[in-house]
Amino acid sequence: MTQSTNQSQKPLTCKTNSFGNLEIGGCDLVDLAQKYSTPLYVIDENTLRSICKDYKHAFEKYPKTKMMYASKALSNCAVTKILDDEGFGFDTVSSGEIYTVYKTGVDMSKVLFNGNNKSFDELDMAIDLGVGRISVDNFFELALLNVIAQSKDKIVDVLLRITPGIECHTHEYIQTGHLDSKFGFDLTQIDEAVDLILNEYKNIKLHGLHAHVGSQIFETSIFSDEIEILVKEIVRLDEKFGIKLDEINIGGGLGVKYVDTDCPASVYDAAQVIITKLDEMIKKYDIEPPILFLEPGRSIISPAGVTLYTIGSTKQVPHGKKYVSVDGGMADNPRPSMYQAEYFAQIANKKETNIKEKVTIAGRFCESGDVLIKELELPELEQGDILCVYNTGAYNYSMASNYNRVPKPAMVLVNNSRSDLIVRRESLDDLVSHDIIPDRLK
Ligand code: LLP
Repeated sequence: MTQSTNQSQKPLTCKTNSFGNLEIGGCDLVDLAQKYSTPLYVIDENTLRSICKDYKHAFEKYPKTKMMYASKALSNCAVTKILDDEGFGFDTVSSGEIYTVYKTGVDMSKVLFNGNNKSFDELDMAIDLGVGRISVDNFFELALLNVIAQSKDKIVDVLLRITPGIECHTHEYIQTGHLDSKFGFDLTQIDEAVDLILNEYKNIKLHGLHAHVGSQIFETSIFSDEIEILVKEIVRLDEKFGIKLDEINIGGGLGVKYVDTDCPASVYDAAQVIITKLDEMIKKYDIEPPILFLEPGRSIISPAGVTLYTIGSTKQVPHGKKYVSVDGGMADNPRPSMYQAEYFAQIANKKETNIKEKVTIAGRFCESGDVLIKELELPELEQGDILCVYNTGAYNYSMASNYNRVPKPAMVLVNNSRSDLIVRRESLDDLVSHDIIPDRLK
């Protein structure tokens, strides 16, 4: 479990050290900012491993559980190495994510390839590299996959991604399981897909069904509804086609606590609901326990990460807000401007005091919407102070851009008072390295 204060989950090793500075993984955050410069993503290895262990303990009672980390939350070789070491497989959604796990040396049979518009080249690569499962999203992909597999004289192992028709209370942009979603087969289309696999697409072998209802979910009952639908479908398909599907993948989605109003369930509570429902369905329909795949992303990596920024200009609007600007913003963390996401932060080089002022943390990018935190109480600030924004491990670096032609920040891994660079900061030369001036313009 991560440290859950009333404000936000923080890395387990986060504390104030004898110099009065914040430290994570035994590394003083002010030293890290000096050594690696800011903005800087920091990942606490201890927290990441401990969350992985929590997931494994929580699902021990259902031994047929397989954990697949959703790479889209944060994909790089060092993080992949740690998750592989903790026994996780990987849910990937692009050739880039597949290549990252491949280059890290992961056993590719533990990888699932997912997505609503996988290209010919991506499917081709997935088959060549021996990806364990492909979650097929639509009829077009089913036909394409069969052609590619046939040309290689291979049988590909698939799941069918279905839209379970469940609405969850999260931001509409991160809901995926509702009926009018772009992801997966509608429940009314499954039979046709199964019929095609059994009777026409000889190079495709179906193992089970896959769904994902959304992200940053707080209500665990949604997972129970999802299991009910998936198991009923498996039973129905057996009755209709005589096909024994023994895998269900319920996706990811468990939420995290960004701010005090967020109330995510613990992984233990979620596991309890999921396992109880699954056991109930297994008994009710008298079936062999299926293999249960989970694909958590955010809840695995988000609390392990923080972002450090240096405070620059401050501006008091007469009769308005006090803006405090940092050296990053919407390009390294697009979540506040995209989803009105909220974050909590503290100053790394100042002890908490009772004398606080209310400020708005603004990013450095040229958009009025580039505000990282709308309202935050902080001790009196000075230029050069280091701001530590919590819970930024997921969907920050992975969604970062070079907007305003700003290089992407570096990422360090901290543990036992040691820091290691795991993603190099982009340089200005990196930025122009893809540019080409055609000869006729020279
Ligand atoms: N499996 C599937 C099929 C997914 O589509 C996703 C996330 C996951 C697993 C992992 O879900 P998680 O455990 O991380 O909630 N960019 C958005 C989140 C988009 C999530 C998309 N799918 C954000 O920053 O909130």
